[in-house]
Amino acid sequence: MVENRFLIAGSILSADLLNLERDVGEALEKGVDIIHFDVMDYHFVPNMTFGPAFLKALRDKFPSAVFDVHLMVSPVSENIVDDYINAGASWISFHPEACIHTQRMLAHIKERGVKSGLVLNPSTPPTMLKYLWNVLDFVLVMTVNPGFGGQKIIPLTLEKVKDIAAMALGFEHQIMIEVDGGVKASNIKEIATCGANVFVVGSAFFGVENKEQALTAFRAALS
Ligand code: DX5
Ligand code: ZN
Repeated sequence: MVENRFLIAGSILSADLLNLERDVGEALEKGVDIIHFDVMDYHFVPNMTFGPAFLKALRDKFPSAVFDVHLMVSPVSENIVDDYINAGASWISFHPEACIHTQRMLAHIKERGVKSGLVLNPSTPPTMLKYLWNVLDFVLVMTVNPGFGGQKIIPLTLEKVKDIAAMALGFEHQIMIEVDGGVKASNIKEIATCGANVFVVGSAFFGVENKEQALTAFRAALS
């Protein structure tokens, strides 16, 4: 089953990095549900972002926020995962291409009391979810190739969201389906109709002047 609450996750990749405390504070105050934290290593994706010390600094300022850590690093190791958990991650996801023992890594994240997620690139099939659902809290469907904000959705990835939603009907516990890349007010309803319930918004949220208006537009489109 897919959970039916809709959650909005603001991606700090598009925030003002020299005013991150201000931007994250404003996002939470305006009612964003989750702060999406993109970790890039120049290997798995052609870009580089934030380490665990960065997350810890944010966690210290915002003790009750939900931090959703999207690891775009290769290889993923328990040490890396543990560093982000110790720094205050609430959710952690990684890409199966970067991990040999995917089931064990998901189980490890869950054992540490953090929500576990697997990220599927546009070209990655969802087949393995059928054998991993009991160690999964969420699936993060990349609707663009990871690495940069501000890209356009690859339409066929929405077919995958539908396939996962259908597959999830057979799972004995609820999972969340999160989408990442190119989400905006004009397409969020269509994506929700495909079965997604958590929406990462970077350029369409942190990249705009009026965050309250952006959030209102997302919620109105989803209602
Ligand atoms: C891309 C990142 C995304 C990114 C989304 O690799 O994983 O989280 O911030 O940005 P937008 O919403 O602008 O596509
Ligand atoms: Zn992301």
